Amino acid sequence: MIAPERLNRISTPTLMPGSAPVIAGDVLLGLTRMPKSLPPKLLYDAQGSALFEKITCLPEYYPTRTEAAILMTHADEICGRLGQDVSVSELGAGTATKTRILLRSLLRRQCSVNYFPLDVSDAALQLAKDEVEREMGAVNVHPQIGDFEDLGFLKQQPSPRLVLYIGSSIGNLEHGEAIALLRNVAQHLSSGDQLLLGVDLVKDANVMHAAYNDSAGITASFNKNLLVRINRELGGQFEPDSFSHVSFWNRKASRIELHLESTRPQSVRVDALDTTLQFYQGERIHTENSYKYTIERLKDLLQCGGFEVEHTWTDPHCWFAVSLGVII
Ligand code: AVJ
Repeated sequence: MIAPERLNRISTPTLMPGSAPVIAGDVLLGLTRMPKSLPPKLLYDAQGSALFEKITCLPEYYPTRTEAAILMTHADEICGRLGQDVSVSELGAGTATKTRILLRSLLRRQCSVNYFPLDVSDAALQLAKDEVEREMGAVNVHPQIGDFEDLGFLKQQPSPRLVLYIGSSIGNLEHGEAIALLRNVAQHLSSGDQLLLGVDLVKDANVMHAAYNDSAGITASFNKNLLVRINRELGGQFEPDSFSHVSFWNRKASRIELHLESTRPQSVRVDALDTTLQFYQGERIHTENSYKYTIERLKDLLQCGGFEVEHTWTDPHCWFAVSLGVII
């Protein structure tokens, strides 16, 4: 067991020869806590990001295609509300598939676009750059590898700026964290700069449940990939088949929860943490939350985050919302 005073050193984001891998601190903290939990960002290594891409194509997973439909229907109207010669940044860009809908429309109003996608996944960013530049020569892509603590690049761009935070990624955050993130973004912007935020809305529980319990089992693989990652990066001995994917709608908290549930009592050795973890039968690791908003709460969120709400677009079923906020 690694002593708590060594945790600081473990979680420093530099990978030096012989030092513990970057995820060690998070994993040790999360799996020695009761109840056990892991930060959702750990789901998105190269494999996890690839599995998430598969999820976005599943028939049960409505958010991606619903948001894409909103963007396609309203792209010209959205772009009409943006500043002249806007530069575009994106938080958690992934492969930027939906962003291309907006970039296409934007190129009809301005002859070139500087696009700064920020993501923790190097692989996803490379794909984003290749795909965007292949399709649109007039878009200059400047990939930013990092997480949301690394927003300094926003200040280097001239105003007007547009920050995209689409795909309902904000749903991973607790309300306080979501507000803090928006405030942090707002602090890197100036008057007139804008934020386009996409959030998933509260709807029929069966629709939401199916989206996170797909019949092909891709979401289960996505969830269990976290254990595979710990095995690979930390010398763990998890048997992913001894855990089951559990996902349900928590109405009171207004969120879908993802857990990994131990199907039997078991001990799991993790070499890099120099520890053996104990699991009782039915014990869960809480791996992800996906908060669902109402239009009201979405507007509150933007306002608390320092943005004035300009306009909100939804689909005909009101399953998803895309909202444009501005710094005043
Ligand atoms: C990437 C956070 C938007 O919450 O729907 C999908 C992640 N997890 N299926 C979501 C996810 C399981 C997704 N976000």
